[in-house]
Amino acid sequence: MATRYTGLIDRYKNRLPVSDDTRVISIGEGNTPLIQLQNIPKIIGKEVDIYVKYEGLNPTGSFKDRGMTMAVTKAVEEGSQAIICASTGNTSASAAAYAVRAGIKAFVLIPEGKIALGKLAQTLMYGAEIIEINGNFDDGMSIVKEIADHAPVTIVNSINPFRIEGQKTAAFEIVDELGDAPDFHCLPVGNAGNITAYWKGYTEYATDQGALTAVATKRPVMCGYQAAGAAPFISGKMVDNPETIATAIRIGRPQSWDFAWAAQKESGGWFDCFADEKILEAHKMLSRYEGIFCEPASATSLAGALKDIASGKIPEGSKIVCTLTGNGLKDPDTAISQCKDAHPVTIDATLDAVKKAILDKM
Ligand code: F0G
Repeated sequence: MATRYTGLIDRYKNRLPVSDDTRVISIGEGNTPLIQLQNIPKIIGKEVDIYVKYEGLNPTGSFKDRGMTMAVTKAVEEGSQAIICASTGNTSASAAAYAVRAGIKAFVLIPEGKIALGKLAQTLMYGAEIIEINGNFDDGMSIVKEIADHAPVTIVNSINPFRIEGQKTAAFEIVDELGDAPDFHCLPVGNAGNITAYWKGYTEYATDQGALTAVATKRPVMCGYQAAGAAPFISGKMVDNPETIATAIRIGRPQSWDFAWAAQKESGGWFDCFADEKILEAHKMLSRYEGIFCEPASATSLAGALKDIASGKIPEGSKIVCTLTGNGLKDPDTAISQCKDAHPVTIDATLDAVKKAILDKM
């Protein structure tokens, strides 16, 4: 029997709002690696079993593709000819790609000058209609929420419930692979759609909602981490001028505010926030110690896990999953600025010169 992987809607159609007649818009998203960290636990000297869900290996390089396959599939099913989103970069890249696949138009509102280079490059290549605004993500989001009353476009931000449906499959994949839910799930929080989606996925798997039988005996404690300059879940109120080097989560007015608080409360979890330097430290650790290159915002999950492991809030013996939401190639500028300690050498193209260069470094 052929086993070609054809995307997460095909894989989890029993638990998603599609029928046999639905035309599925897929680029093969999902099925991302769950990688066990080998070196970092040794370095921190703790008996913990940490996995990273490497969402940077989705077709457009971020977890957004999980939600976008669902949102665009349903938009097309409902006869929509155009989609729109506000974005810090990843949602726009994903919306642009899935619109191409569907043969419809994508409009994306992005904050001028605050989109990582790789995300901009992708969105341009996919041919989306890019609208740069003199404002931040939250400004774009408030316009997008009103635009549907004025123009025939479907919103594909995570306020679209089909986005959450698609994204919940990441929790399914984790449970399917580990055989049960982990003890703790750590993830970066921006607009708060993803923490909402994971909690929904874990809950469905643990409570036998949907067509299949319950596969998880428990749900994890949910730990949501933010950048200190964009941390409304820490201050308990919306933030007007969010700022962080992790531009993906440069958000002050999360749309899934209530859902995220529910996930935290129901799971017995918590929110915390980190200075940009701490986020970048975790970003570099993943590359230098594990060979895993994610984007800065993604590393917030590991920064949080490491702090809470060190303090004992996450006890030894725990099984922990950290979501790495996007690929490191998304933000080459921040990556290069992180590597001031690297000293590439330029030498003559001769065997002797190369031999000397190697021996000098051994
Ligand atoms: N990590 C990355 C790489 C992101 O791009 C985002 C959100 C998040 C984490 C936070 O996820 O919003 O569900 O809490 N990016 C959105 C965008 C806002 O427009 O690409 P969240």
